[in-house]
Amino acid sequence: MSRTAYVNGQYVPLSEALVNIEDRGYQFSDGVYEGIAVRHGVICDLEPHLDRLGRSMDGIQLEAPMARAPLRLILKEVVRRNKTRDGFLYIQVTRGVAKRNHAFPDFVPPALTITCHRLDFDRLITLAKKGVAAHSTPDIRWGRCDLKTISLLPNILAKQEASVAGAFEAIMLDGDGYVTEGSSTNIWMVGADNTLITRSTSDNILPGIARHIVKEIAGELDLSIETRAFSLKEALAAREVFLTSTTSCAMPITIIDGKKIGDGQPGKVATALLKSFVERLDQQA
Ligand code: PDD
Repeated sequence: MSRTAYVNGQYVPLSEALVNIEDRGYQFSDGVYEGIAVRHGVICDLEPHLDRLGRSMDGIQLEAPMARAPLRLILKEVVRRNKTRDGFLYIQVTRGVAKRNHAFPDFVPPALTITCHRLDFDRLITLAKKGVAAHSTPDIRWGRCDLKTISLLPNILAKQEASVAGAFEAIMLDGDGYVTEGSSTNIWMVGADNTLITRSTSDNILPGIARHIVKEIAGELDLSIETRAFSLKEALAAREVFLTSTTSCAMPITIIDGKKIGDGQPGKVATALLKSFVERLDQQA
């Protein structure tokens, strides 16, 4: 089946979806993005993702390419044209095409591109039965990690380092040895009394939508939450550690830097959270 992308006002076959080489996203990483899950053909948690896209655009003084209502219609149309059942909808907005100059160009419309790829939730559930390994590395990013910008080089380098070390995710650490977040996920640990502990949102982590969903689920499961920074040392001694993101839902981390977390098996809390997370996605369909 030929896949379809949306590129600046047109639906085009993915293989022919091109942008100008002077697009500021390509030249400067001057743009923002969102990634949204599609489950059984339905776009999940669209409004919080669009809220965050708005905050990211405002944060870099980027004009919205269009109002929310037409954007919602285009997103639905991309899902429909790709016949997506379970997928990952990717939205990117850049500061448009202009002769290379660092300062913002005048009167240049922002560029909007959208793609949708398959996301295998069954594979995710299978992976969670074993859990994943993580690798710690210094967080070398800038001071506005709360904005979902396309400038992802430090995240890419961290993930590559993890991948070379045989790990699924990189856990990034601030200068004091405290966990900020994963290269593309938020990180949690489970403390005494099954309290869920995760870093509070500030300008040094992305306020994950999955993080927010897990907070809601925790309330339903009667689990308390503590939002505070925790060190790598604490994480290594925790009952459980897990990560959250749109593409991984809630995934148990069973090994960090080659050391087992707990007994090295996915914990009860993370497993329960993943089950409820997927059920919640199913309910939106
Ligand atoms: N990553 N932290 C970072 C640095 C991220 O890039 C992401 C998302 C998250 C989790 O956010 P959410 O729960 O809204 O997916 C946390 C996406 C999936 C990506 O870059 O592909």
